[in-house]
Amino acid sequence: MNKLVIDGGMPMRGEITVQGAKNAVLPILAAAIISRGECVIHNCPRLRDVEKTSIVLTRLGCKLNRSEGTIYIDSTDINDCRIDEKLMREMRSSIIFLGAILSVFGKAEVGLPGGCPIGLRPIDLHIKALRQMGVRISEEHGYLNCECSHLVGADIHLDFPSVGATENIMLAAVKADGETVITNAAREPEIIDLANFLNKMGAQIRGAGSSIISIKGTERLHGAEYTVMPDRIVAQTYLIGAMMTDGELLLKGAEPSHMQAGLSVLTEMGGRIRRTQDGLHIKNNGKIRSINIIKTMPYPGFPTDAQSPFMALAAIAGGTSVFVENIFENRYRHVDELVRMGADIKVEGRSAVVRGVKKLYGANVETYELRGGAALILAAMAAEGRTQIAGIEFIDRGYEDIEGNLSRCGIKIHRVRF
Ligand code: UD1
Repeated sequence: MNKLVIDGGMPMRGEITVQGAKNAVLPILAAAIISRGECVIHNCPRLRDVEKTSIVLTRLGCKLNRSEGTIYIDSTDINDCRIDEKLMREMRSSIIFLGAILSVFGKAEVGLPGGCPIGLRPIDLHIKALRQMGVRISEEHGYLNCECSHLVGADIHLDFPSVGATENIMLAAVKADGETVITNAAREPEIIDLANFLNKMGAQIRGAGSSIISIKGTERLHGAEYTVMPDRIVAQTYLIGAMMTDGELLLKGAEPSHMQAGLSVLTEMGGRIRRTQDGLHIKNNGKIRSINIIKTMPYPGFPTDAQSPFMALAAIAGGTSVFVENIFENRYRHVDELVRMGADIKVEGRSAVVRGVKKLYGANVETYELRGGAALILAAMAAEGRTQIAGIEFIDRGYEDIEGNLSRCGIKIHRVRF
């Protein structure tokens, strides 16, 4: 088992190039199989979830090669439509293969998904939509069995703008008979990235990024080359790190238009943020101020994935901040750990009241999910003394070389094996 050991109190100063977005690269890799040809994907971060996705692709029969940040996928000989239960349980986002596999074979057999334990994560919207597209779905022994004679376009209204469901429908619709129109679609930038990639493969998708997406089915797609967008949650994590440690950071490759909700909160809390030619620069302007209320919402609202890193920041702000988590239940598992480090946080249902304290203190803590783990790293960087963080395999799912990036910026952090 690995742990991260962090000696707090050092300012984070330097520059970091933002990695490719985890939540964009995973559906893009899945989408590559629909081409039945060769795809070249640049800016793929080295992450556990990307490795797992590569394993899924190989098991399906694709040939894969990786060189630095580029993954080459040849799906010409793809021959399997099954993803085993173990792989699915390790990574919830593998549900995204459902739409892609159905596009290729008209049938799919996938284990029921797992992932970070952050509350109920049902897939009812995915299933309802695919049924509308003519797919027969049954559940047996932990597997979803899906079959159709051919996929048909449909008008699909999502009761909630689910990111995964929107992506799955797009993947299933690109080769369906006729047109699919999704209303109340998710508007996240990662949806646009997936649509752009599919369109490069010859798909006909319009409206991605708005709440109405239309997809005209096409008979054949082809291979394509694509560069994955920068990770907006990782970018915000590093910006917060610089703020919490009274540092100064140049974040290369960051895309400010993807993170307006977070940047506006950071500015309100005292960050001086400036756009540069190739990214963003942040400096703390002396004091961290509390924020009245942060409510997580579907994009372009405040992202649930940034809730815990911002809570670490609020923990040392001057004043009281309130958080309301509207997307996932049980996404406050980092709170008890922050409290062990001296934070003053009370949770009541979906709300958390954070009274800023003057200092956090190093402690032995554990993370149970990805973004909560990032919050603990941030708290440890600002804390007095040493913090040891267990459960870092969750952090490795989404942050590429986090200890390398932070230590190059002056943070005392290293990984130890226990
Ligand atoms: C994606 C992101 C995740 C992010 C989340 C919300 C990936 C790989 N993961 O997850 O990092 O936190 O968006 O921005 O892109 N829901 C249902 N039924 C469904 C599907 C979802 O009720 O069929 C609910 C979920 O339980 C949750 C909410 O909708 O409460 C949001 O889920 P969704 O947008 O689907 O998130 P994911 O695609 O799983």
